[in-house]
Amino acid sequence: MAKSGPKAKDPAARAAELRDEIERHARLYYVEDRPAITDAEYDALLRELIALEGAHPELLTPDSPTQRVGGTPMGDLPSVRHEIPLLSLENAYTPEELAAWVTRVVERLGRTPPLVCELKIDGLSVSLVYEGGVLARAATRGDGTTGEDVTPNVRTIHAIPLNLRAADAVRKISSKVKIPAVLEVRGEVYFPKKSFAALNAAREEAGLPLFANPRNAAAGSLRLLDARITAQRKLSAFLYSIARWEGERAPASQSEGLSTLEGISLPVNPHRAVVSAVDGVLAFLDVWRTKRHDLPFETDGVVVKVDALADQKRLGQTAKFPRWAIAYKYPPEEATTTVTGIVVQVGRTGVLTPVAEFTPVLLAGTVVRRATLHNHEDLARKDVRVGDAVAVEKAGDVIPQVTRVLLEKRPRGAQPFAMPARCPVCGEKVARQEGEVAVRCVNPSCPAQAAERLRHFVSRRAMDVEGLGDERIDQLLGAGLLEDVASLYALTVEQLAPLERWGEKSAANAIAEIERSKDAGLARLLFGLGIRQVGEKTAKLLARRFLSMEALGAADENALTSVSEIGPETAHGILDWFARPPNRALLSKLRAAGIRMTESAASSATGGILFGGVFVLTGTLPRRSREEATAAIESAGGKVSGSVSKKTTAVIAGEEPGSKLDKAKSLGVAVWTEDDLDRALGAPA
Ligand code: IVH
Repeated sequence: MAKSGPKAKDPAARAAELRDEIERHARLYYVEDRPAITDAEYDALLRELIALEGAHPELLTPDSPTQRVGGTPMGDLPSVRHEIPLLSLENAYTPEELAAWVTRVVERLGRTPPLVCELKIDGLSVSLVYEGGVLARAATRGDGTTGEDVTPNVRTIHAIPLNLRAADAVRKISSKVKIPAVLEVRGEVYFPKKSFAALNAAREEAGLPLFANPRNAAAGSLRLLDARITAQRKLSAFLYSIARWEGERAPASQSEGLSTLEGISLPVNPHRAVVSAVDGVLAFLDVWRTKRHDLPFETDGVVVKVDALADQKRLGQTAKFPRWAIAYKYPPEEATTTVTGIVVQVGRTGVLTPVAEFTPVLLAGTVVRRATLHNHEDLARKDVRVGDAVAVEKAGDVIPQVTRVLLEKRPRGAQPFAMPARCPVCGEKVARQEGEVAVRCVNPSCPAQAAERLRHFVSRRAMDVEGLGDERIDQLLGAGLLEDVASLYALTVEQLAPLERWGEKSAANAIAEIERSKDAGLARLLFGLGIRQVGEKTAKLLARRFLSMEALGAADENALTSVSEIGPETAHGILDWFARPPNRALLSKLRAAGIRMTESAASSATGGILFGGVFVLTGTLPRRSREEATAAIESAGGKVSGSVSKKTTAVIAGEEPGSKLDKAKSLGVAVWTEDDLDRALGAPA
């Protein structure tokens, strides 16, 4: 198991230790092909380092493994030479500059050629090679001549087909689609706005630094050394040019090329137009200047290209840019407004987030009234004060952000904002955990947290109680009918029916729903309790392995981390939750209310508390013979093996252990005593 190390260590020493560990495990995984820790453990180490560097930016070194995640040079991805270089584009920032470009093209060609207008997708350019219709290689642009091989990462992007085939629409009308023997296509990998918002929300909740915009997030995600993480980030792509086509029916123009790509099931942006003169281009620019904000992806402009490849060839290129294309960039949408207040919100896990409130202002199509300042460090860096005039931008057109303070307009006497030392809702002291950026209210009975916890508990993916929306939860809290999630089960029709906007029928329905939720099962209950680090998936894994709340509550770190995908950080979150008396009291209340705290073996498709675990026995155990231990493990769904490998979940060592113990230690495999086994099997400690 990975050692998470003493948390109290000085940050510089811990950062150095983490870097060593991460590099060692990356080498074991990528170079030597013998991983010693699970993916989740590796992830936990990386996350700890990211958080540490976030909290102490002075510790960040250019060679830190986190820089791969962030997207700066990554010596470790193999490089790829682009036989046909990826050019970049000349920019135009005003309609006049664009018209001047059209004039130059017309002069060179002696006529006005058809032009294609396409949206400029704000992502990361990639080049894909399909050989015999199969995706063979994917590379980033790099410096245009040499890029990085990101094939495994690109393979995780669902929009990009691994095999070319006639698109459904084409197949219906013709059977003659020919797939080229070799096709090199270029395009843009991007982060859809929605996935970007979800990613940042999850990072905020976990106290991780946020990505500034979808473009950075796309670059960071595509260039991860670990394609498994790329796979979790919902990237997408649009392709916009053919660099090489070896096969019949090579397209003769850009517009034909785009339709051809569509015809062989490659993703092409549908918003494009062929126009015949500068007026057409300007009209396209006008339409998309505002409409682009309604698109599910980010665009920062329009690319205009001469359509016919023969014309492109005649125009040629300068040292840097093709003469046949230009990028028109929309100015970033920025608005200035005044900060009327800075409030501090408290989330479900107690994270305090400062939020700036503004005089309402129109920005990129919507009225913006407030912007989160992410965390107190972000706030301190920007030094936003009440009364300040600030510039607000929409990061990725999704989240409004304060980009800067217009210092020259700062009113006299404006006071720097200080994060409160006490929770603004419950008044308890707040704390910042070592290695975390976030400041939290650690009072488990904080009402702000209580409301958020209740909302989460009844949500569809948790206990799934219909008919208890946000407003009703607030109403019941306000009426003093709820204090924690267990108090839901004490509600009665008589209490609810007389309340405003309720009535007999909806009160009876809500009570029936609450009653029904008692049988939701351990996985939903665990997720619903909002234990830090325990998302839906982890809750299911835990329920499947431990089958009961008692067994889970009795599990120690070894038992927890023996569940694949559960690393030390998650294990600590769980241990910490069970160690807190208020949480134990809550469990007792829930139990007394008749909430099911087990997962039936039948409901977990795979069953067995040790399911998926591989164990090796060595030495003499105090209480069980080898046969008895084997039977106990196997009847709980685990396997017993004779030899230790990196896949071993744990070596269970008794007296006079053999060389298996040494091997376990050298591979970093967990070592258990018989007591640990008992705990894993759910025996009370
Ligand atoms: S064509 C030689 N078309 O913008 C022509 N580029 O600022 C190569 N981009 O490096 C590019 N959308 O990463 C083209 N529809 C589009 C595009 C596009 C986005 C990116 C691309 C390029 C950058 C230039």
